[in-house]
Amino acid sequence: MTSSLSGRVAFISGAGHGIGKATALAMARLGAIVGVNDLKVEFVQETIAAIEAAGGRAIALAQDVSTRDGMREAVLRLARDAGRLDIHVNNAAWVRYQPVAEITPEVMDRMVEIGFKSVIWGIQAAAEAMDPERGGAIVNVASIAAVRSPGRSMVYSGIKAGVLGITRAAAADLGARRIRVNAVAPGAVPTEGTAKHRNADLDARRIARTPLGRLGTVEEIADAICFLASDDARFVNADVLHLDGGASQTNIG
Ligand SMILES: NC(=O)c1ccc[n+]([C@@H]2O[C@H](COP(=O)([O-])OP(=O)(O)OC[C@H]3O[C@@H](n4cnc5c(N)ncnc54)[C@H](O)[C@@H]3O)[C@@H](O)[C@H]2O)c1
Repeated sequence: MTSSLSGRVAFISGAGHGIGKATALAMARLGAIVGVNDLKVEFVQETIAAIEAAGGRAIALAQDVSTRDGMREAVLRLARDAGRLDIHVNNAAWVRYQPVAEITPEVMDRMVEIGFKSVIWGIQAAAEAMDPERGGAIVNVASIAAVRSPGRSMVYSGIKAGVLGITRAAAADLGARRIRVNAVAPGAVPTEGTAKHRNADLDARRIARTPLGRLGTVEEIADAICFLASDDARFVNADVLHLDGGASQTNIG
């Protein structure tokens, strides 16, 4: 069980669904006040209702965080309303898989804005909001697609490989301010966002390639993000946790 996050304030982008929502619930259960960000106000309200039903505390931040201004406004509002910022999770993404010949500027630009630029804007805003003495922890959600393409993922894999580079570079720059920066790289986990990209055949092939013999869950990804954000990981920095049951690091199936 991860150490308590009591007294900590955590910002989570894209927390209306999937991995972000599970992370918001897990951090609230560990005692953090959670800034629940999502593009869609109704998704934000659903996550906040679930946190409050479990006795946790949350602040609504319905905002598009793909722009520098949008991200900064959301993060600084949380820090002002909650009095501090300790944890920042760059989770939001908008994902499309396209064959090489069908990639369009419109789709690529939107994916890059949310999946890549917003990670940089998030780190910039979090570094501004975090106390220079106390520091903090930033966790970026990458993907094993950064190192192992499922196919039709040139844009997505490029973005997620970029997120790993951003993670290491941010850790180099922010360590002196006691801000740790790490990433998680999940394998396929069922979420609202991935439902349209999955089918029984694809899941069976993924499971056959996974030493643990199953797909992961959003709760398992959330637990690892909580660990990296907590004091249990106080000397873990510039690192990446592969959360895929061993699939990306082995060669079975
Ligand atoms: N689910 C998987 O299999 C998987 C695997 C590897 C990595 N990931 C990564 O995990 C993260 C979460 O994935 P998921 O499957 O839970 O996604 P999801 O689509 O289920 O949820 C993403 C949330 O982000 C929100 N969002 C999108 N654009 C936004 C914006 N501009 N501002 C604020 N919120 C915005 C959406 O409204 C949605 O609620 C992503 O970074 C994804 O690339 C997911």
